[in-house]
Amino acid sequence: MDVFRVQGGARLVGEVWVTGAKNSSLKLMAVALLATGRSVIHAVPNILDVTIMAELLRRLGCAVEYSAETQTVVIDVPEQISHRADYDLVRRMRASIAVLGPLVARTGSADVALPGGDAIGSRGLDMHIAGLELMGAEVTSEHGYLVVHAPEAGLSGTQLYLDFPSVGATETLLMAAVTANGVTKIDNAAREPEIIDICLMLQDMGAQIEGVGSPLLTITGVKSLKPVEHTTVSDRIVAGSWAVAAVMTQGDITIHNARMEHLSIALEKLTAAGAKIEATDDGFRVSMETRPKSTDIVTLPYPGFPTDLQPQFIALNAIADGTCMVTENLFEARFRFVQELSRLGADVRTDGHHALVRGKQKLSGAPVEATDIRAGVGLVLAGLVAEGETLVHCIDHIDRGYVKFEEQLRSLGATIERETLPDLD
Ligand code: EPU
Repeated sequence: MDVFRVQGGARLVGEVWVTGAKNSSLKLMAVALLATGRSVIHAVPNILDVTIMAELLRRLGCAVEYSAETQTVVIDVPEQISHRADYDLVRRMRASIAVLGPLVARTGSADVALPGGDAIGSRGLDMHIAGLELMGAEVTSEHGYLVVHAPEAGLSGTQLYLDFPSVGATETLLMAAVTANGVTKIDNAAREPEIIDICLMLQDMGAQIEGVGSPLLTITGVKSLKPVEHTTVSDRIVAGSWAVAAVMTQGDITIHNARMEHLSIALEKLTAAGAKIEATDDGFRVSMETRPKSTDIVTLPYPGFPTDLQPQFIALNAIADGTCMVTENLFEARFRFVQELSRLGADVRTDGHHALVRGKQKLSGAPVEATDIRAGVGLVLAGLVAEGETLVHCIDHIDRGYVKFEEQLRSLGATIERETLPDLD
């Protein structure tokens, strides 16, 4: 069991380089399934979830080679692929559901274990299912698997309207639609930069998609797609996490390979907290000289404030000057992290979707447990500004999305060590 031992008090100063986005790379790997042959995806981060997705694609019959050195994954997709995504892999990573659309599109059926992943809420699949049914598929749930069968003649394009701009449902239906018969319209679609990235790869493969980046995607089905080479969009959540780290530690961090325009609201909030943010050639620089001021947050689908930066911003507000309200609209259980933050002395009260955060001058180091990937990062950041030592448990969550997190923190001046504690059972 690995833990991070974090000493509080360092001011983080220096440079970091952001990799491709986890939440894009994983889906792009699934997109590759749509074309027979060899697709190459660059800027794929060396994280646990990529290893799991690579294994899943191998089980489906693909040859997958990942180079950590070049951050490139090569996926060779055979003519015939399996349609079954097994429980042992899917339960380890919710993003496995990304294979659902491509499997139905390629093989006419899919048996995909119902996903697990982060413990951050119910994370239903109703919109994925309703959309596939409207396209003509028969969907049942059997023995813990979602079982999908397309009609003999394939899925049919139709008008789809999502109740909510779900990232996952938009991806599933988009990937199912690119080779369906006729035109599919997905209204109220998600428009995260990662969705745009998927659309760009699909368009290169020969897919016909209009309205990329808008809430209305119009997809005209084509007979087949060709394999391509694609570079993953930069990880806005990792970049945003570094920006929060600079502000919390009153530091000065230059973040390379980052896209400011993907973080507009979050950077606006940091400016309101007192940070100085400047664009650079390939990213931006965040510096802070005073104690941050509190800032209200409301999470919403893109271009709203990202839920994946909510824990980091609660950590920031926990040491800020003032009181603020944080509203979480996407994942109800994301506030589980607050209990852990309270162990460091944070004053946070939650009520349903809302958290009232009263900033304290000081936090004090304590043992805590990461409840999901972003919560883990929030706790490490809080540990960096707490007095004394903080031991962050369950850091495998952090490893799912941040490459060599502790090494990067050390390069900025933090005192943080990874340790393996003996398993008690
Ligand atoms: N939802 C439904 N029904 C559906 C689909 C979604 O009720 O059919 C609900 C979910 O239960 C959840 C909310 O809608 O409460 C948001 O779900 P969405 O489909 O938008 O998110 P996701 O695809 O499950 C991805 C990211 C998350 C990120 C969200 C929102 C991946 C692998 N995950 O999840 O990332 O928070 O979009 O931007 O891409 C993370 O990286 O830490 C993370 C959790």
